[in-house]
Amino acid sequence: MKGIEIKPDIYWVGAIDWPVRDFHGYVIPKGTTYNNYLIVDDEITLIDTVKYNFAEVSIQCVSSVIDPSKIKNIVINHVENDHASSLDRFMALAPDAHIYITERGRQVIERFFDISRWDVNVVKTGDELKIGKHTLRFIETPMLHWPDSMMTYVKQARLLISQDVFGQHLATSVRFDDEFATCGSRAHLDEAVIDYYANILMPFGPLIKSKIKAIQDMGIEIDMIAPDHGLIWRGEPGRVMDMYMAMAKGKADLSVSIIYDTMWKSTEIMTGPLMQGIKDEGVDCKVVKLRNSPMSEAITEFWKSRGCLVGSPTLNNEVFPSVAQFMTYLRGLRPKDRIVGAFGSYGWGGGAVKWLYGQFSEMKLEVVEDGVEVKYKPSSEEMQNCYEYGRQFAKQVREYHKQYE
Ligand code: FEO
Repeated sequence: MKGIEIKPDIYWVGAIDWPVRDFHGYVIPKGTTYNNYLIVDDEITLIDTVKYNFAEVSIQCVSSVIDPSKIKNIVINHVENDHASSLDRFMALAPDAHIYITERGRQVIERFFDISRWDVNVVKTGDELKIGKHTLRFIETPMLHWPDSMMTYVKQARLLISQDVFGQHLATSVRFDDEFATCGSRAHLDEAVIDYYANILMPFGPLIKSKIKAIQDMGIEIDMIAPDHGLIWRGEPGRVMDMYMAMAKGKADLSVSIIYDTMWKSTEIMTGPLMQGIKDEGVDCKVVKLRNSPMSEAITEFWKSRGCLVGSPTLNNEVFPSVAQFMTYLRGLRPKDRIVGAFGSYGWGGGAVKWLYGQFSEMKLEVVEDGVEVKYKPSSEEMQNCYEYGRQFAKQVREYHKQYE
């Protein structure tokens, strides 16, 4: 691999992970990249490293531009393992390099590495580092998405290196959004941004709003955003910021996702009239069976739609395990701005639907009560009840959606 010049004297020196599909449990069907950047100036500066098993690839990229022993500074924007776990490899090549990192980040790297011989410098928002013709300005972004996170703005290049924020899990042979829009499609890129936001950044909407506003209020010019995953935003860097701002404000489609699992198909059969009722109210609908779909896909579909119906059988007096898993994942993402309902089936005794409403209540989500729960197989009357509930649900979704228009 070779470094790729993204701005004069600034290089992408990362790695493309084509085969990865399981990213700490988050299924990424299109792989990903670990992006890090090299600035060649009086003081050669590396921004971030890569996942440990790609250290050699990144070192090779750096070596295609300069001798890695000449690295003078290493900025760590984010300490998660996919970006900082090869820090020791780079420090072995450039042992006198100065590390720049937030205080929270310093506390993490000292747990993973012996930093006693490293020159570690703690930085905070507004601190600047002049490395020659370029000046780096650090912007802390705590909880976007880890406590240590920060961004680095390269002033003279008008380049914002944004760590995970604005990333996408896409392994591609091209490095820029405008190239991908030509050889792939803008819609696929948008989908990747939404998927990434839903599975990683959903809990942090209020922080995203305030941090993007703070960055805009700084009055800094940005003509490129370089995240730590996926494509670099060169064509329309403001577009991804606008997408984030809209999602942080609760943007969703006027549509419903039906997310369910089933034992002997009774719960599955119910999705038919539910969907029909929703459609007959003029609201689009998508159905996702949990055991046939990655959890992250179900979360993305939940996030894209204003309304969600969750369906579960009762098994051994409990909610079905795959539905419990989905709800646990969803609860951790602290969803907002969505309206939900539940349905399901049982043999001896019910309980799954009641449990789901309890979960919705704990999550403080808007609910449409009286979801349908049937014994054994839905009768024709119960199928009609499902249809009516679907219609009622869609009407309430439409009403609820108005506040976001
Ligand atoms: Fe891409 Fe939070 O690591």
